[in-house]
Amino acid sequence: MEGSTRTEEKPIISVSQTTPEDIEGLQNVHFRTWLATYPNAEHGVTEDDIKAKFEEWHTPEDTARRKQTVAAPKSGEMHLVAKDAGKVVGFCRARRGDQENELVALYVLPEYQGQGVGSALWSRAAETLDLTKDTVLYAAEYNKNAIAFYEHLGFKDTGERTTDETLRMKSGSIIPEIKMVLKGTR
Ligand SMILES: CC(C)(COP(=O)(O)OP(=O)(O)OC[C@H]1O[C@@H](n2cnc3c(N)ncnc32)[C@H](O)[C@@H]1OP(=O)(O)O)[C@@H](O)C(=O)NCCC(=O)NCCS
Repeated sequence: MEGSTRTEEKPIISVSQTTPEDIEGLQNVHFRTWLATYPNAEHGVTEDDIKAKFEEWHTPEDTARRKQTVAAPKSGEMHLVAKDAGKVVGFCRARRGDQENELVALYVLPEYQGQGVGSALWSRAAETLDLTKDTVLYAAEYNKNAIAFYEHLGFKDTGERTTDETLRMKSGSIIPEIKMVLKGTR
């Protein structure tokens, strides 16, 4: 099933379940948005760091694994893509858990940001989450744009700060993270 959004100036964006054929496009969105978002002089995260991280992540084995994952998603897992005329321009992953939900990833190509794509992906994911329970997410502490976007959706800073060793860069730097929560309605 597909949903679409349209206004006069904006492209027609469809939101649908991710299929194995979408994975290369999704990886392109992932790489391009990381490169546009995460280099940070203060925290020593460079463009080279991001490029090296994606060489580590986007291997043929990883691509094959991701295709399998979306072909047979685990119960409670949501994999969505936003497309403009068949081209993947954004994606979202979310997980419905027994205790809480997690918004795992939400990325929109730089040239498609600010046009409603991120909120369309979130709305579609939220339909399948149990929003009576809390929904958590982790964002880069210096990613003020994403933090403001999530606040706009109702998420709040939990005060918790963390780092994820899988995000350790080849330069030794690491992206500091903030944990946010959308309180459940129960
Ligand atoms: C953060 C991101 C997902 C938001 O998606 P987007 O498509 O640009 O956002 P939208 O156009 O859907 O914005 C939806 C709403 O949020 C608001 N919003 C967006 N960015 C905002 C900001 N920086 N401050 C305040 N409000 C903001 C918009 O005004 C809009 O409000 P409206 O629905 O009342 O008109 C997208 O910009 C992105 O991919 N950024 C780079 C990658 C990233 O940081 N991902 C998050 C990783 S944790």
